[in-house]
Amino acid sequence: MIVLGREVYVCKCSTDVPREPSASDASPNVEWTLGNRDDFAMVPLEHHEDAHFADFEERLGRGEEWLIGVMGEKIVSYTWLHARSHVSYPYLPGCKFKLGQGVGYGYDAWTHPDLRGEGLRRRGFVEELHVLRTSFGCEWEASFFVKHQLEGATRSLAKAGIRIVPLWRVRLGENRKAQFESLAPEDRSTEPMDSE
Ligand SMILES: CC(C)(COP(=O)(O)OP(=O)(O)OC[C@H]1O[C@@H](n2cnc3c(N)ncnc32)[C@H](O)[C@@H]1OP(=O)(O)O)[C@@H](O)C(=O)NCCC(=O)NCCS
Repeated sequence: MIVLGREVYVCKCSTDVPREPSASDASPNVEWTLGNRDDFAMVPLEHHEDAHFADFEERLGRGEEWLIGVMGEKIVSYTWLHARSHVSYPYLPGCKFKLGQGVGYGYDAWTHPDLRGEGLRRRGFVEELHVLRTSFGCEWEASFFVKHQLEGATRSLAKAGIRIVPLWRVRLGENRKAQFESLAPEDRSTEPMDSE
């Protein structure tokens, strides 16, 4: 479930983080695994519509990985991963980036509303970095954060040893074109694509 955003940050983080939960980790006990079509039956229907499943089908068909957190018979948290070279943030027109070698992509994270704020996304993030590193050979993950989520995410993920590095700020200009501001000019891991 991608969040609408008129100001979006492209960030990267290293996939080299300790996988063991810290002593202070008190997130609910969830099994993290890679999902497939057979797991659609465990997706809570009260929070997902037919269009979600159509998207999920397409993503699996494109070879993306679906990291799911399973509690009992239900998926309570998930995220999507791939290592293609081009990514975009669909709700900010023109927000398209090319990823460098060794940079993977994580997106569309979701946690069940009843379990939010208990650390599931943080645990899932650690697991997804492991998947990007081991399945796709990526040293970095790139992700989009909408402005209002960046600070909380940075603080939360730091507790698991994940350091979020902002690379680009993207805003919708008055001409309704994406405007890109580099926040780390030396970094070449992501480059905006010309929106012409
Ligand atoms: C964003 C979301 C995935 C966080 O899941 P969660 O399991 O509640 O996250 P955790 O319990 O591990 O961590 C909560 C912290 O994550 C922070 N956070 C907010 N957005 C975040 C994001 N996109 N990624 C990671 N952490 C995020 C919160 O600020 C909070 O910080 P705090 O504990 O310092 O207050 C969940 O709220 C959700 O599904 N929201 C709707 C969909 C969405 O916005 N997805 C993200 C954009 S793709």
